[in-house]
Amino acid sequence: MLKVELKKTIDESYPIEIGSQILGKAKKYIQKATKAKKLLIVTNETVYKLYYAKLVASLDGFEIEKVLLKDGEKYKNISSLQKIWDKALKFKLERKDAIIALGGGVVGDITGFAASTYLRGIDFIQIPTTLLAQVDSSVGGKVAINHPLGKNMLGAFYQPKLVLIDTFTLKSLPLKELKTGLGEVLKYAFIEKSCNCNEGFELCEFLKNNKNSIYNFESIVTENLVTYCCKLKAAVVSQDEKESGLRAILNLGHTIGHAIEKTTDYKKFTHGEAVVLGMLGAFQIAFDKEFIDETYLKEATDLIKQYEIIPKSNLDSKKIAKATIYDKKVVDSKVRFILPVSPYEVDICDTVTQDEIVKAINKIKKIPYSK
Ligand code: NAD
Ligand code: GLY
Repeated sequence: MLKVELKKTIDESYPIEIGSQILGKAKKYIQKATKAKKLLIVTNETVYKLYYAKLVASLDGFEIEKVLLKDGEKYKNISSLQKIWDKALKFKLERKDAIIALGGGVVGDITGFAASTYLRGIDFIQIPTTLLAQVDSSVGGKVAINHPLGKNMLGAFYQPKLVLIDTFTLKSLPLKELKTGLGEVLKYAFIEKSCNCNEGFELCEFLKNNKNSIYNFESIVTENLVTYCCKLKAAVVSQDEKESGLRAILNLGHTIGHAIEKTTDYKKFTHGEAVVLGMLGAFQIAFDKEFIDETYLKEATDLIKQYEIIPKSNLDSKKIAKATIYDKKVVDSKVRFILPVSPYEVDICDTVTQDEIVKAINKIKKIPYSK
């Protein structure tokens, strides 16, 4: 037998630069992170109007081209990918050049996938402009497009060279999109201890005390919030880049959440709303299994209620329970839930039955929704 010995020969660490109004200083950060002479900027029609000119104004000296995608999850597909590949080839991007994603998670995921495949991998920079993308999708290297048979089914792990987060861009975010991001932020609060980040920052307390500042995008509070969530995500990804274990904790609320999105054709709820309902479900299952006590169940439910983020739902509990079987985390036909086990700590559990899911969903249906 011959053996191909593979050791990582390059350091794939990368910086996350966070600040308010740093988009106009992009050149400095990009020059530090890559040797690119040409930059291909991928964005969508909405973000283009808001931030493209500001970004490009700061990039004198680079040769620049753009790809403008249509706005929406339904364009996270092979045609958008093809558009990026086509432009990259026509622009004669070389391996040392770079592709930039300017936008939310949709633009980030497609662009990262294009970068991972173009010339077998070209430098890639994330400039996320939604809360969800700033606290979650731009960090960690999961890149993908959707297939008609499933979301994010085609993709790769491909880390960016730089994540540049201008929290000022959040000021133009519609309330609905802010709430979607807050769904993921709340998730970090409930997995905080399991991230092994050791920052001594209690996200739950911070969230309890800063709701108004967060909703008003107060500069320092927003920066602190985004920075802390990125620290937690970076800590998890550093320990388990390819999701062989710990990284799965980032999916708290996602097993039921994805099932809810799927059974409502991705039309009724935003991803964040579905995750919130999924988290409420996970907390209820954990309580029913006696993993957590009533005090923690109430603390978590109250925090979610405080953020006015529970959608009116009328959930079909049996249909949703059945749909969890198609979750990406299924191993040996067992659905793997991420469940709270003590305050701010979660664990993987593969013994959740269909009956337990149905019972939990029926209980969360009784929680009053946010007006
Ligand atoms: P999105 O990219 O569709 O952005 C939401 C909306 O906000 C869009 O209409 C967009 O044009 C608009 N927008 C973006 N920035 C704006 C700004 N600053 N001001 C005003 N409008 C702005 O959605 P999203 O919530 O950012 O991302 C969702 C996607 O992320 C999904 O496809 C999901 O699968 C993916 N995701 C990936 C990861 C990962 O680890 N890679 C993690 C979570 C989610
Ligand atoms: N958003 C889940 C992950 O990055 O693993």
